[in-house]
Amino acid sequence: MKSKLPTIGRRAFLLGSGAALAAGGLSLGTGLLQASTGEPIRMRPRLTSHAFGKPETHGLISLRDGAPPPVIRLRQGVPAVIDLTNGLDDYTTMHWHGIRVPNAMDGVPYLTQFPLIRDETFRYAFTPPDAGTYWYHPHCLTMEQMALGLTGVLVVEEPFDIGFDADIALNLKDFRLDEDGRLLPYFTPRGAARTGTLGNTPTTNWQLDPVYDVPAGGLVRLRLVATDTTRIFKLVFPDLPGRIIAWDGHPVNEPVPWPREDAPLLLAPGQRVDIALRLPDDETEIALHRLIAHAPQPLVRLRTTGASLNRDLAALRPLSENPLSMPDLATARTHELVFGWTPDGDGQNNGLCGSNAYTFWSINRTPWPGDAVDTVGPLAELSLGKSYVLRLRNESPNQHPIHLHGLAFLPIRSTLRQLPRNWTDTVLLLKNEVIDIALVADNPGDWAFHCHVIEHQKTGLAGFIRVA
Ligand code: C2O
Ligand code: CU
Ligand code: CU
Repeated sequence: MKSKLPTIGRRAFLLGSGAALAAGGLSLGTGLLQASTGEPIRMRPRLTSHAFGKPETHGLISLRDGAPPPVIRLRQGVPAVIDLTNGLDDYTTMHWHGIRVPNAMDGVPYLTQFPLIRDETFRYAFTPPDAGTYWYHPHCLTMEQMALGLTGVLVVEEPFDIGFDADIALNLKDFRLDEDGRLLPYFTPRGAARTGTLGNTPTTNWQLDPVYDVPAGGLVRLRLVATDTTRIFKLVFPDLPGRIIAWDGHPVNEPVPWPREDAPLLLAPGQRVDIALRLPDDETEIALHRLIAHAPQPLVRLRTTGASLNRDLAALRPLSENPLSMPDLATARTHELVFGWTPDGDGQNNGLCGSNAYTFWSINRTPWPGDAVDTVGPLAELSLGKSYVLRLRNESPNQHPIHLHGLAFLPIRSTLRQLPRNWTDTVLLLKNEVIDIALVADNPGDWAFHCHVIEHQKTGLAGFIRVA
């Protein structure tokens, strides 16, 4: 089966998509980028340097100089326009992870658009249907560009004030550096064939140990976003009044337990968790931790300041529900997708976005052959508006955060555990686990579907699902 895009001439495609816009930069003091009236948000990935407690690391990629990509804030139901101008010598595209955009705005090379050359601009225009915590990252040369830092948090604000006194996004990502701050190889074939290649420099918002001031006695919303290419974070939250309010963008339907040291919360690459925390009344410091080899390590510290605001968690308004369609399990057809280890010799390279140098993985025994999709068909074809169950079967002894673009889904059963039925776009498959997910195929297009351990994605564990 042939995808429709590669048959359209590149020039015609670009003319139809609002190319040739002036290049522009971001001027940001605070790292917040507010979509204001009518003005497009301009993004220009470029090379930069930053010191991670060591000599400066050069060759990083951000949208700002010397700082991580900014938090972008959009509003639910309000049209957004983002002009991406490529400031790199390499090709790129941008993807809005978790946002149910029209297919042409999804940023997936060859499947939805062509990769951009240097100084070329692509206009992404979409109206975010759902409020919550999302993120953005390139989908071309994904391994390199994400490892070099090009991952940012994207917040879609609710239409009304929930009542927090502070709202802090935490972009969790490890870098791989040597003692002199030089970048180590993004991944190793050995790692890619197994659990993945872990970084050695844990950061939050590109800081080793950030401390943020927050109002004593106040209510803070923390948005934790796992943007690492490999790491499954094990999170531990402080022993304070608080709750998990959203999972992968959407308000929770079923409670997720507050994680403690003996039962940490797993946050896999691509996933997000929003928490509400009631801060202590006195001036003090609290921390959220991640476990690294069972040892807790602070990922952010919050310093409470001022006289207590004396707030109460019960004063928060509930998050507004997102407009998601509930799948009809009585009529849903089931498609099975099997994730396995399929060493297939050398990879293929049929595109410009750095696809497979090696092949280790497969979906339904077929390793993804590369970026360009004119030789492979969809893994499943879903009829627009119908309900489906996708049976995700992990036949490997490794864990895989499985991500579907364009649609949200509900995990409905697992062979290994009780999963809360919370809406998501990325579900962590434990080793040898089978999880059934349910969805309504209500967004037409060819939707990328892959493991979010980028080394796995880029060595075969990828494909796409067609909704028509
Ligand atoms: Cu977050 Cu296809 O990616
Ligand atoms: Cu995505
Ligand atoms: Cu994987």
